[in-house]
Amino acid sequence: MHHVVISQIGAAKVWRDAARRFLASGTPPDQILWGDVSSTPDLFAQAENALSQGMITVPRSFVALANTVVWHNDPQRFARLYAFLWRLRDAPHLMGDRGDADLAHLRRMEKNVRRCQHKMKAFVRFREIGRPDAPRRSFAAWFEPTHNTVEPTADFFARRFGDMDWRILTPHVSAVFQGGKVTFIKGQSKPDLPEDASEELWITYFRNIFNPARLKVQAMQSEMPKKYWKNLPEAAAIPDLIATAPARARQMALNAPTLPPKRMAQAQAQLAAHTSAWDGPKDALPAAISACTRCPLHCTATQAVLGQGPTDATVMIVGEQPGDQEDLQGKPLVGPAGQLFDHLALKAGLDRHAAYVTNAVKHFKFRAQGRRRIHQRPNTSEIEHCRWWLNAELSLVKPRLVLAMGATAAQALTGRGDTITARRGQVERTPSGQNVLITFHPSYILRARDPANKQAATEALIEDLKTASATQ
Ligand code: URA
Repeated sequence: MHHVVISQIGAAKVWRDAARRFLASGTPPDQILWGDVSSTPDLFAQAENALSQGMITVPRSFVALANTVVWHNDPQRFARLYAFLWRLRDAPHLMGDRGDADLAHLRRMEKNVRRCQHKMKAFVRFREIGRPDAPRRSFAAWFEPTHNTVEPTADFFARRFGDMDWRILTPHVSAVFQGGKVTFIKGQSKPDLPEDASEELWITYFRNIFNPARLKVQAMQSEMPKKYWKNLPEAAAIPDLIATAPARARQMALNAPTLPPKRMAQAQAQLAAHTSAWDGPKDALPAAISACTRCPLHCTATQAVLGQGPTDATVMIVGEQPGDQEDLQGKPLVGPAGQLFDHLALKAGLDRHAAYVTNAVKHFKFRAQGRRRIHQRPNTSEIEHCRWWLNAELSLVKPRLVLAMGATAAQALTGRGDTITARRGQVERTPSGQNVLITFHPSYILRARDPANKQAATEALIEDLKTASATQ
């Protein structure tokens, strides 16, 4: 049986060298007793001299794992590492085996050590101990790490505080940085370090970064465990900060700026566009519509197509939007759908010229296909933008009845976008209370494939045109 005692200082290298030699000499784990005391490495050297030397290869990932796990406070860490290393000889793939219980245990230990290193970096607080006239400033910190993390973390402090001398004192091993070089000495009991002028600064800083509205005591204690509090100057402020957090959060809310968010201006402009109305002189309406740029449709259309008919008409006919022909001629309902409308209106006895005929949207919307312009339905935003003009026409003409032909007209007039079939023949209302008779659009009849449907829709439209004609 081999007895190995590993010193606390330099444990990583000492364990690594020993493990290599044991492995090279084929010494199984049950032949070794690993010890862990705060003693000099000489003890180990005595045991080591007897061991043979040899070249062995070990996966890099294991070396990295071992270099961290050796700093764990578990007395079994060296034995665990060696037992796993022994298994690795014949099964190097083990390092990738997530189901292996030994590896999983070592990974947990590795995580504990890393977490402890992280805490150390965050919670070591130096106090100045040097003479004010000394050429180099000198500091000391007392820290009580859970694991043996002074040694593997010292480099971090050397990099960060390279321009001063410092020492981190702990119960087990202490690090001393002097003249740009780190050495490790035995641990000690807590020294009486002087109060530091920077402590007040820490407390003030901590008070300022503490957000009472985000107070989560549990999360805070897991990030800054209570065991570290006694050595943290700022921790003295924590109980008070927790106790006063609700009141401070309320005060923060009261002090919060009341400026509206950026999008508010845009939302208000949109709302204004919906709720306000065109209020120019009556005879300026055609020119205003012609000059409309409220939505992008004006960019591609030839012109805005204005309503047509007497402005004192009792009936107002509203279609969807100009088609190809209407766009070119600048008149509503003159293309194929308009011709069908004229034909049915005649049958129903409606005098088109005595009615005010217009569209929900004033510009033609299309998709170019070769030389053809294919009609596209206007979207909700385009309908909404153009409602401004339709409302202006409604208040100008003040018709007794509005005939809404198709879903776009019905949506623009009533605000309801559902399909026509269930609503056709019914009188609905505009928001300002005008009567709107819902009916089919002539182009729906033109598009209908099923003859029976075509017939039924035609009869329905004639019936609605008759109703409108009765209002004239
Ligand atoms: N369709 C409409 O709704 N209106 C027109 O002016 C032309 C076709």
